Amino acid sequence: MANNTFGIDLGTNNIKIYSHNEDSVMVEKNMIAIEGKSTLFAYGNSAFDMYEKAPANIHISYPLCNGVIADIKNMETLVRYFVTDLMKGSIRPADYIIAVPTDVTEVEKRAFYDLIKDANVKAKKIMVVEKAVADGLGMDIDVKNSQGVLVVNVGYDTTEISILSLGGIVLSRLIKVGGLKFDDAIKNAIRREFSLIVGGKTAENVKISLKELEEEGRGAVVYGRDIVTGLPVEREIPTKLVDESLEEHFYTIIDNVKVILERTPPELAADIYKHGIYLTGGASQVNHLAEKLAKGTGLRVNVSENPVESVVLGLSKIIKEDNYKTVAYAIEGMSK
Ligand SMILES: Nc1ncnc2c1ncn2[C@@H]1O[C@H](COP(=O)(O)OP(=O)(O)OP(=O)(O)O)[C@@H](O)[C@H]1O
Ligand SMILES: [Mg+2]
Repeated sequence: MANNTFGIDLGTNNIKIYSHNEDSVMVEKNMIAIEGKSTLFAYGNSAFDMYEKAPANIHISYPLCNGVIADIKNMETLVRYFVTDLMKGSIRPADYIIAVPTDVTEVEKRAFYDLIKDANVKAKKIMVVEKAVADGLGMDIDVKNSQGVLVVNVGYDTTEISILSLGGIVLSRLIKVGGLKFDDAIKNAIRREFSLIVGGKTAENVKISLKELEEEGRGAVVYGRDIVTGLPVEREIPTKLVDESLEEHFYTIIDNVKVILERTPPELAADIYKHGIYLTGGASQVNHLAEKLAKGTGLRVNVSENPVESVVLGLSKIIKEDNYKTVAYAIEGMSK
């Protein structure tokens, strides 16, 4: 591919873009803040900073929902702004390779292609790659020559469970569980047990710091609004309560992994047994998930070294190494 090539993993929470020119990865919140009817106020991490704090005339939202594009116009705007930033202010013709989920409709898949085509980013060639294949490459698995690789990516809105073999997808299932559901479970538990309302960012911070707090034997100190008095208060939340609140979602993930394993052809199942599960995605780092997954399936769990970036790192390999080019494809009838 040309030197001016971008690899994009459009996550519901984070957009990750690899720039071949810079040989670097940008990670920004996939968020947009619109003032009034249509004035762009902020985008990316700066839009996220204002989230849950902005006045009513500023509308802040994620253009993706459950891993698919829900708000095309705003998503096009975001892609254009991020790419313009990466090209230091002026858009030049470039090739694009975009990761797409597998277990979605053809129309939803095509929407990723159309997004790049219509975002006014001077796209020359647009290729797509199944997310799980990119994930595998990003975790240093030789996906083209491996048989039976089970990848579990726990993201923000979704968890994608896929079986790869010889560079393609054998089975894939996208379920609506991820970091956001974990945050909601934490919020609900704090509300129920402490009559305290906390925001999404507070719940997310508790989730991220769980491991460390548990090691130090401390609870999570949170600030929120008391339901009874309506006043702001500080409380210390025991990590055990938080852990318990997450279990239900962990079981949903584990049960779905088991369903996929039940449907896997026996010869591939043998390979999966040998390799173990490859666990990635930002929210896969949540306390105790990896060990519960290992216990629940009886399989070894390999945790990703770079869970947020594994898909986009896979895209960077496809862009840089000719050997992997064949895993990317053009959407039929639409390639240029
Ligand atoms: N250390 C951590 N522990 C637990 N969760 C984490 C940690 N770091 C990030 N997360 C969570 O990871 C999620 C974002 O992960 P990621 O970027 O993989 O999602 P995404 O790709 O945007 O979403 P999706 O794949 O569902 O479209 C957020 O919910 C965030 O809270
Ligand atoms: Mg993702």
